[in-house]
Amino acid sequence: MTDTESLNEQLQDQSPRAILKEAFARYDNIAISFSGAEDVILIEMAHKLTDNLQVFSLDTGRLHPETYAFMETVRKHYGINIEFLFPDAQEVQDLVNRKGLFSFYEDGHTECCGIRKVNPLRRKLATVDAWITGQRKDQSPGTRNEVPVVQEDGTFSSAERTLIKFNPLANWSSKEVWDYIRMAEAPYNPLHEQGYISIGCQPCTRPVLPGQHEREGRWWWEEATHKECGLHAGNLIGRSG
Ligand code: ADX
Ligand code: SF4
Repeated sequence: MTDTESLNEQLQDQSPRAILKEAFARYDNIAISFSGAEDVILIEMAHKLTDNLQVFSLDTGRLHPETYAFMETVRKHYGINIEFLFPDAQEVQDLVNRKGLFSFYEDGHTECCGIRKVNPLRRKLATVDAWITGQRKDQSPGTRNEVPVVQEDGTFSSAERTLIKFNPLANWSSKEVWDYIRMAEAPYNPLHEQGYISIGCQPCTRPVLPGQHEREGRWWWEEATHKECGLHAGNLIGRSG
């Protein structure tokens, strides 16, 4: 068993707050990746646990106006800096000038997500020892059932170094997250009041109907078992990541 696997065993029944506390105790150079949705709960918990909070967001250029406004609200509410990562201008330009602005509806989201999310994320992750995500098992039965609370990142580690990935909310339900957000009176994205549950880029996210699973509002034109954008690609191929 690796050190990370035994840490996972030790932490898997702990609360998200306790997992975050352990993450900050072990790693100084660790960052929260914030998507502008209910993962604000990580910032709500973490800002009381460390004076050295690093938060970053991937600005794909295609987020909802409400999400941009919400990110600014979060920045001010917690008095924190959010580092925005942008896609490479040349790569975006080549894609949209070759295939138009909505190519993902025709040939899938992989190429656009690769340019707008995964490449900037790779650049950021090369500068930290560990990262923290808001992934939960209940977000996507097709791909996230096995998400551990801590793992070696199988997608973004390199031969020279192992990147550690914490998923403190892995075992929490959507209800537990929302009960906490309400109890803490944390700010939330107003799109959640309009039927959106899971929130990603504007053209690739839509509200869901009562009884529909939250993941059905993401990339709805694609097969459910493929709905990972590459940030958490390891979930798809059965390796850690
Ligand atoms: S996605 O892979 O399908 O887009 P999802 O929206 O479920 O991910 O979010 C899961 C976690 O991935 C978030 O809590 C966050 O940690 C990270 N994440 C997703 N999108 C972004 C983003 N635009 N910027 C930063 N982190 C993100
Ligand atoms: Fe592009 Fe949609 Fe992926 Fe956003 S979610 S990066 S718009 S394919």
